[in-house]
Amino acid sequence: MSGRVALVTGASRGIGAAIAQRLAAEGCFVLGTATTAAGAADVTAALGEHGMGLELQLRDPASIDAALKRAADGREAPSVLVNNAGITQDNLLPRLGEDAWQAVLDTNLGGVYRLTRKLLRPMMRGRWGRIVNVSSVVARMGNAGQTNYAAAKAGIEGFTRALAQEVGSRGITVNAVAPGFVETDMTAALGDAAREALTERIALGRLGRPDDVAAVVAFLASDDAAYVTGETVQVNGGLHMA
Ligand SMILES: NC(=O)c1ccc[n+]([C@@H]2O[C@H](COP(=O)([O-])OP(=O)(O)OC[C@H]3O[C@@H](n4cnc5c(N)ncnc54)[C@H](OP(=O)(O)O)[C@@H]3O)[C@@H](O)[C@H]2O)c1
Repeated sequence: MSGRVALVTGASRGIGAAIAQRLAAEGCFVLGTATTAAGAADVTAALGEHGMGLELQLRDPASIDAALKRAADGREAPSVLVNNAGITQDNLLPRLGEDAWQAVLDTNLGGVYRLTRKLLRPMMRGRWGRIVNVSSVVARMGNAGQTNYAAAKAGIEGFTRALAQEVGSRGITVNAVAPGFVETDMTAALGDAAREALTERIALGRLGRPDDVAAVVAFLASDDAAYVTGETVQVNGGLHMA
């Protein structure tokens, strides 16, 4: 993937950091985003000569424009986009307030809409592009306490299939990756009992690692995946087989 520019949202931590490192190792110049200037500086330090960090807040269209302007500085537009950033705000539905509903839908699904449409035009001009959206196993499996998150992730999978049909003729593929439970800050709050009960349901007997997801994203972003589009690849260790 040498010479390609890749943009990875949420590259400051967890799965996004692993994806950024993996794409850099495959030869991409990686633009990795974080929500703060300090986070972006850490991404720059982690990527070294293989990329740079960008401050970007997916809920704010002006922040997206500013980040893309900084990214454009004498460089080709990204032809690989990994929509990885996401949040959870869990609660059972009767206790799930409007704020938690809006925050999760607007960040996880609205952010994918906002950023993808900005990067589509240059990909169409170049007649080559790879878009990989990070969904979740709960989009299909469901999970009590995550109606907002599951709705956003199921929305991402529908978005993926619809956009794949719009842009296939331009040499752009659009796919999703649906991780199971992965060891990151997002799952750090799981108590020992919950973790043990969860592990028992996973065929491969462990939670996922960020690198497990990054490897599949790297494949979908590569030339080897040229004939794969509109697909959601499950990376859940056999927690849910659909
Ligand atoms: N961990 C899991 O078990 C799991 C399972 C299935 C799917 N996923 C999905 O995988 C993706 C990464 O998850 P993770 O566990 O690596 O998450 P994480 O460790 O909590 O990191 C979240 C990342 O998203 C960024 N972010 C948060 N809100 C943002 C916003 N409004 N605008 C732009 N960026 C924002 C964060 O930036 P800052 O560092 O600046 O806050 C951070 O880089 C998410 O889409 C998540 O839903 C995770």
